[in-house]
Amino acid sequence: MRIDIITLFPDFIDHCARVGVVGRARERGLLRIQTWNPRDFASDNYRSADDRCYGGGPGMVMMVDPLRKALAKVRAESGSDAGLIYLSPQGRRLDQAKVAELARRDHLILLSGRYEGVDERFLEHAVDEELSIGDYVLSGGELAAAIVIDAVGRLQEGVLNDAQSAEQDSFSHGLLDCPHYTRPEHDVWGDVPAVLTSGDHAAIRRWRLKQSLGRTWLRRPDLLERVELDKNTRALLMQYQHEHAEKTRPDRKSGD
Ligand code: ADE
Repeated sequence: MRIDIITLFPDFIDHCARVGVVGRARERGLLRIQTWNPRDFASDNYRSADDRCYGGGPGMVMMVDPLRKALAKVRAESGSDAGLIYLSPQGRRLDQAKVAELARRDHLILLSGRYEGVDERFLEHAVDEELSIGDYVLSGGELAAAIVIDAVGRLQEGVLNDAQSAEQDSFSHGLLDCPHYTRPEHDVWGDVPAVLTSGDHAAIRRWRLKQSLGRTWLRRPDLLERVELDKNTRALLMQYQHEHAEKTRPDRKSGD
């Protein structure tokens, strides 16, 4: 997959793309990431790519022409007519289903704007999709672009070592992830649940599903409303709810 990012702060993205899973994917040739600075397409000696807002008000707005030229260069160099995705708090909220959809494309072009914005004429003519990473405002879209690159990059075939680990992610089946443990088995802060050391793989799968259901019910009940549970899965959730009610009963003595 190829991802091009148009940004006034290419160093930020370049750094993010050098480390961790994305960095390894890049080194192994599974992901190609390239940044483009609209300042390199400015028409004056000051490399201006933003200017004051017409009508007054604080902050700078990114200018049409450097962005248009940067985008034309990306399209010419990549030979692709992939749509342009603008990261902004006004966009559609990114979720794992959207990440999975983006991950199936072979080319993404992202635009990170400054918070004050991008000239509306560019948005109207050149942007195909607007995505937000959440209902809060960042000072620029670079962090949002880095999040898209990470979430999409790790889903590329061959990027994660264990092919199953993305399958088991929170949200990949509409549920939150189950708890995970590693050595030591016994610690002053508790023991690893016995089922996980039992070697009984069916029981482990059931326990994990039950924990996922329970966590989703406790922390994100809105997600549960969107998944269809079969009879067995509903029974597991009810078991979890029953155990939880027992554990949190006000008259329950500690150590029971
Ligand atoms: N730029 C500024 N805030 C943002 C957000 N919440 N999502 C995506 N891009 C942004």
